[in-house]
Amino acid sequence: MNSTTTTRKLNFSAGPAVLPESVVRQAQEDLWDLDGTGIGLLEHSHRGKAISDVFDKADALCRKVGNIPEDFEILYLQGGASLQFSMIPMALLTKDRQADYINTGSWTKKAIEEAQRFGQINVIWDGKEGSYRDLPDINELKWNSDATYGYYCSNNTIYGTRWAQTPKAPTPLISDMSSEMYSRPIDWDAHDMIYAGAQKNLGPAGVTLVAIRRGLLEQASKDLPAMLRYDIHASKGSRYNTPPVFAVYFLAQVFEWIQSNGGLKGIEELNERKAAYIYDVIDGSGGFYTGHAAPRDRSRMNITFRCPSEELESAFIEEASNHDMANLKGHRSVGGLRASIYNAFPEAGCRQFAEFMSEFARTHG
Ligand SMILES: Cc1ncc(COP(=O)(O)O)c(C=O)c1O
Repeated sequence: MNSTTTTRKLNFSAGPAVLPESVVRQAQEDLWDLDGTGIGLLEHSHRGKAISDVFDKADALCRKVGNIPEDFEILYLQGGASLQFSMIPMALLTKDRQADYINTGSWTKKAIEEAQRFGQINVIWDGKEGSYRDLPDINELKWNSDATYGYYCSNNTIYGTRWAQTPKAPTPLISDMSSEMYSRPIDWDAHDMIYAGAQKNLGPAGVTLVAIRRGLLEQASKDLPAMLRYDIHASKGSRYNTPPVFAVYFLAQVFEWIQSNGGLKGIEELNERKAAYIYDVIDGSGGFYTGHAAPRDRSRMNITFRCPSEELESAFIEEASNHDMANLKGHRSVGGLRASIYNAFPEAGCRQFAEFMSEFARTHG
């Protein structure tokens, strides 16, 4: 397969994941010569005008597309979303301070374990007993008003759950939006910080997008190594050291692509339609398929489900592969099947997959 091949596999990978075709093709050109500068994207100094323009474009479009209020700083950090599990509590907690966390599985569990090194962590809701199938009712959460912050993950990539309604906390609220960033509008009033590893909905691995309210940034500890200080990254325009230029360039192009696809409202409608093709087959399969997530809490990005037996799941993966559908195996911690259909995953591909699922259930049911 070469770069001019027009048909590729339907890639259901949970991340790194499918990216918009037009953006990938433009990147191929810009790698060779960025904007007619005669120098390729990856060969420009990060201090020069060409790359400053890339950062300015990313900032402006990130804010415009996401409707991010002026009192939020936008940062492009390294260390993956996982570094934020530690960087947040390091910046905001001390041994005598507390924070509220909601445990909706793997990613929040890791965040909790990291945070426990730095302060007192109250797990105010835990989905473990229910195998992380569901999420709490936002009105029943018991937030502590004297906590330094509250924390949740808006979409669990592994279990396929997402918060239909945004929780509201009496303290600053922080959200890991890695696996659904810019798949729907964000309630900025409810949050003081959100972050997302880019490699699912925004671009390549290597950059973590952070939007943090200036008030929270000012509260963060100054007694930390420079690379772990939000305020230093903010004051240097995310170029305290050499930044992940390619990833930030890609983000800018993806923001532009989202804008030309109806912005977050348009993308949300598209994502609702895409997910519905697949959930409708699960629900209409007479029990052949069972969804992992409770219907109210179903993710629009990661659809997790099972067949009646592991043998049938293996057959499903094999037959799907024969139809050029790849990466459908569920995460090793839950098993089963998972179809990740991020923003750039085509609607026609979801329809095609739904038809495949119906046919598979008909012939194996
Ligand atoms: C919701 C969520 N948070 C955090 C992470 C960790 O991201 P990274 O590998 O960039 O550290 C992932 C990775 O899949 C994720 O899905």
